[in-house]
Amino acid sequence: LTLQLDKPGAAVSPTFYGLMTEEINHSYDGGLYAELIRNRVFKDNADKPEGWSTVQDAGGKGNIMLIGANEHNVPADQGRNAINDALTTCLKLTVETAGRVGIANEGFWGIPVKPSTAYRASFYAKCDDNAAGPLTVSLESNDGKTVFASGKVTIEKGYWQKYQLTLNTAAGIKPTKDARFVITTDRTGTYFFNLVSLFPPTFNNRTNGNRPDLMQMMGAMKPSFLRLPGGNFLEGDYFTTRFPWKTTLGPLEERPGHPGCWSYRASDGMGLLEFLEWCEDLKIEPVLAVYAGYSLKGDFVPPGPLLKPYIDEALEEIEYVTGGANTVWGARRIKDGHPAPFKLQFVEIGNEDGFDRAKSYSQRFDQFAAAIRAKYPQLKLISTVGGKDGLGSRIPAPTSRYDLVDEHYYRTAWQMEENADQYDSYDRNGAKIFVGEWATREGAPTTNMNAALGDAAWMTGMERNADLIKMSCYAPLFVNVNEKTEELPRAWQWGSDLIGYDALNSYGSPSYHAQKMFSNNLGNQVVPVVATNIPTKKAGKQDSTNVRSLPKKAIIPTLFYAVTKDTKTGSIFIKVVNTASTAQAVDIAINGAAKIASSGTITTLKGDHPEDTNTIKDPEKIVPASANITGLGKNFNRVFAPYSITVIQLKAQ
Ligand code: AHR
Repeated sequence: LTLQLDKPGAAVSPTFYGLMTEEINHSYDGGLYAELIRNRVFKDNADKPEGWSTVQDAGGKGNIMLIGANEHNVPADQGRNAINDALTTCLKLTVETAGRVGIANEGFWGIPVKPSTAYRASFYAKCDDNAAGPLTVSLESNDGKTVFASGKVTIEKGYWQKYQLTLNTAAGIKPTKDARFVITTDRTGTYFFNLVSLFPPTFNNRTNGNRPDLMQMMGAMKPSFLRLPGGNFLEGDYFTTRFPWKTTLGPLEERPGHPGCWSYRASDGMGLLEFLEWCEDLKIEPVLAVYAGYSLKGDFVPPGPLLKPYIDEALEEIEYVTGGANTVWGARRIKDGHPAPFKLQFVEIGNEDGFDRAKSYSQRFDQFAAAIRAKYPQLKLISTVGGKDGLGSRIPAPTSRYDLVDEHYYRTAWQMEENADQYDSYDRNGAKIFVGEWATREGAPTTNMNAALGDAAWMTGMERNADLIKMSCYAPLFVNVNEKTEELPRAWQWGSDLIGYDALNSYGSPSYHAQKMFSNNLGNQVVPVVATNIPTKKAGKQDSTNVRSLPKKAIIPTLFYAVTKDTKTGSIFIKVVNTASTAQAVDIAINGAAKIASSGTITTLKGDHPEDTNTIKDPEKIVPASANITGLGKNFNRVFAPYSITVIQLKAQ
């Protein structure tokens, strides 16, 4: 490899690496969003109080049932138990025989209990006259034998009231997720509950906040933006189940949640403002995707007057994010607790509209773009027509100007490797590119080392083409790794994800570590490289743990590279990916520098076998190792380990 520091290289966009998110794989409920109660407003399942069970101890007897407005097939007269338009379903506990009787919530595959921790519990309750009195609220083991924390509230007769308390665990307890949240009584009678909530400490102590471990893992990736709120989750299966940003605002009491498109209901505790605060906490920018009139099951709103309400909704959403106190939706954001407008540069119109069989995207985009540009001329607009895996390219591109086109790629490792040069030959006169979803799909629920190699090969291709690629983000970001139980389906719907977790712990896949290495070691300028004698291999089954499709090329490289430099510090970042099963020696020459410092650092991620991976039980089998290296100069040789991803950082002087 000959690095040509004396040749001009493209500027690397400050938004080169970012994050993509949506409610999939329990990314928020049972994931990043720190709420611990599953089905807190009782709307997750119309047939049963999913996540809830009856506690019957000390000779007590009772039962629980869902009651609520008609949407859950209950008699209409029971609709009177609604608290408001959003909280229309509640849980009724009938205690027939006194003892220790109550309700228990199992959480999202367990409630995580940690030592010396304060949990904020709250719920709405009412009861019949005889039942008024103290209720015991506890965190306890699933068999009820160990109480980790407990407190009391006194419930009054009358209408709904909110009750709150803090549950403090002792210093000595062992962290566990084999725990449940219970509310019990020692009196007979009828009790009603709604919006039952339990929060552990959150990142930046936000009241309606996020899990600290997952926020820290994202922060360590040094992302520059968050593409939100999807993905398919933006579109919904139908118009009526698109991301309903307006009912995700304000107090939790006003959020009914909505049916998600990944087989479970979203609580919408992670609402539009929470997405924006997530960006604020990570010091990154939102990339706001607005619903563009096309939903997953194929429905589309024809361009023209019928599309106008959706365009108005998008304009209002942008106003919520950026507007001042003198605007309707800016004022609403201020009322919701965030006086300062958020910085917004990019708006994406729709998601994967290349799948719209009616081919209506071009006109829908034009109509959205005209309205958004008229009001917000400074915004950069992203068209979704590119991808997925080239499928969308059959659809005509929007006729009006767009600033970036969003392409999506989900491939096997060998497909990533054979296409790592894909952008080398792209038309330089076309649109700049946002690779808004990409991943090597090998390993589940989180990816394996082979996927990380495919990802890294792909990232070298993106970095070398930084004149064209302005933004990129991997998908999906999160996965709750719990498997099916007797009661519940598997937590994840999409195999091959970046960050895995259960209620208590989290870990990064090899792909996560590869990405962290790439984004933490990125200059602001591409260094042109002349490469000769790049080793290759015959592509075949043995190259992939996922054999869904054969590579188109018979011969693919086994060594991939990209080099960038930081013009302020003089640091040079050399990235080399060796996908071969053998070590490979590479001669590196650096042209155009007066002097190269003789020492630098080297970071390597490697596996003994392509299928090696990290899991919730073995979270650090594959993690990067960093060391100082010496012997650097204008010419040096380096041997790269089998199945390895390496970043060498050195300094030109
Ligand atoms: O990342 C998973 C899904 O893949 C996204 O929701 C969608 O945009 C794409 O098809």
